[in-house]
Amino acid sequence: MLVLGVLASGRGSNFQSIIDAIESGRVTAHIALLIVDNPDAFARQRAQRHGIEALYLNPKESPSKDAYFERIRDELLARGVQLVALAGFMRIVRKPLIAAFPNRIMNIHPALLPSFPGLHGQQQANDYGVRISGCTVHFVDEGMDTGPIIIQAAVPAAPDDAEEQLAQRILAAEHMIYPEAIRLFSEGRLSVEGRVVKIRGYEPPAALLINPPVGA
Ligand code: GRF
Repeated sequence: MLVLGVLASGRGSNFQSIIDAIESGRVTAHIALLIVDNPDAFARQRAQRHGIEALYLNPKESPSKDAYFERIRDELLARGVQLVALAGFMRIVRKPLIAAFPNRIMNIHPALLPSFPGLHGQQQANDYGVRISGCTVHFVDEGMDTGPIIIQAAVPAAPDDAEEQLAQRILAAEHMIYPEAIRLFSEGRLSVEGRVVKIRGYEPPAALLINPPVGA
């Protein structure tokens, strides 16, 4: 069974969506460990509720950013983690972790990449005045939200949306596509060719908002 490690910094609603998908049987995986870089991350309480081991690793205790990611890497490897899911983890992942998990670290970003990378993707899209936004699950490379795209979902952005309304619409889509990307990975259906992710057994439909469709 796929062994997952999750990294989070805050609320952890995406972490929760992964837990729920596993508990309901939609995704076959085991979450071996949650690591947080913030002692107050609500994600920690979610882990506790669901009997998942949680570790707070204080970045200030590591002499460098690379050393911090070496610590994270070692904790994940010690538990046999095969796929790492970043779920609202507010740090740029450094080489020691990426090298240990090539194309085996996923992230969720609240915009349709490559538009609006970096912090506050929802606000950037809203300020820009786009009519469609969404979210992206991608593999993590050393850039900022630049890795190969696995799944995207689009949502409408209304002209008079408050940023919070758009963020909520995007978040609901995030909770659908993140577990779905993990399911595809766990079924061995993803392969990376250059910067393109191929999905075995996926037929693109004529029109849809979630690409690929959940459950395909
Ligand atoms: C989400 O909007 C996600 O796209 C971004 O950070 C936020 C995390 O939210 N990477 P949560 O902690 O999963 O609720």
